[in-house]
Amino acid sequence: MIIAQDLEQTYISGGRRLTVLRDVNFTVEERGLVAVVGPSGSGKTTLLGLLAGLDRPSQGTVILDGQNLGPMSEDDRARLRAEKIGFVFQTFQLIPTLTALENVLVPVELQPSRRWPAAEAAAHARDLLARVGLVDRWHHYPAQLSGGEQQRVALARAFANRPKILFADEPTGNLDAETGHAVIDLLVALNREAETTLVLVTHDPELAGRAHRVIGLAGGRIVSDSAGTA
Ligand SMILES: Nc1ncnc2c1ncn2[C@@H]1O[C@H](COP(=O)(O)OP(=O)(O)OP(=O)(O)O)[C@@H](O)[C@H]1O
Ligand SMILES: [Mg+2]
Repeated sequence: MIIAQDLEQTYISGGRRLTVLRDVNFTVEERGLVAVVGPSGSGKTTLLGLLAGLDRPSQGTVILDGQNLGPMSEDDRARLRAEKIGFVFQTFQLIPTLTALENVLVPVELQPSRRWPAAEAAAHARDLLARVGLVDRWHHYPAQLSGGEQQRVALARAFANRPKILFADEPTGNLDAETGHAVIDLLVALNREAETTLVLVTHDPELAGRAHRVIGLAGGRIVSDSAGTA
């Protein structure tokens, strides 16, 4: 489902080359649930951005669901993301001028091949917001929501187009224990029932413990790759 080959990412800043990922190789099976762990600055967010086609690697190849992202145009990658990929950003990236419900509907409206009747799409979005515990907050704007609530809207948005592959950067990072459990259960259910392939960055031992596999990064390299305890 996801193949990463010899990935390298180098940034030039202040005239200096900074290699933040190197020699990254792995394959994620369809319906896999993979956790990426590692210290701050080890390259986790960078890796997720490359795998999801949000950024291009300096070197190496990413193949998503049989499609090599390398030769694809920006537009083709955007289309592929709209069709198949959900992404939860570490910083949420909700649109401030849209309500929670409207934010969740964005990927539905961007999906080129599947036109949903408006009422059905809104019902689906409200159902997703209910599943993340935001049943009566759907008309609120991001600025009216706490960090944890914004994170849950971002999760609901990422599920909205029923993606084949979901990438989530610290999806439980801002949540209290109880909400965190609920979000973890939701992610695991999505993986089992909707057969979504999940790649999650996390510092949360409970979430990493539910993964099939845990990939450890340090200094931009894979330093461990082990079957999880789930
Ligand atoms: N656009 C950029 N230009 C220059 N350096 C960058 C850029 N993006 C990321 N970096 C650097 O790449 C390294 C890895 O960053 P990344 O965000 O992937 O780390 P991370 O593992 O997600 O950390 P955290 O756990 O704190 O979120 C960091 O040293 C960061 O400063
Ligand atoms: Mg990060």
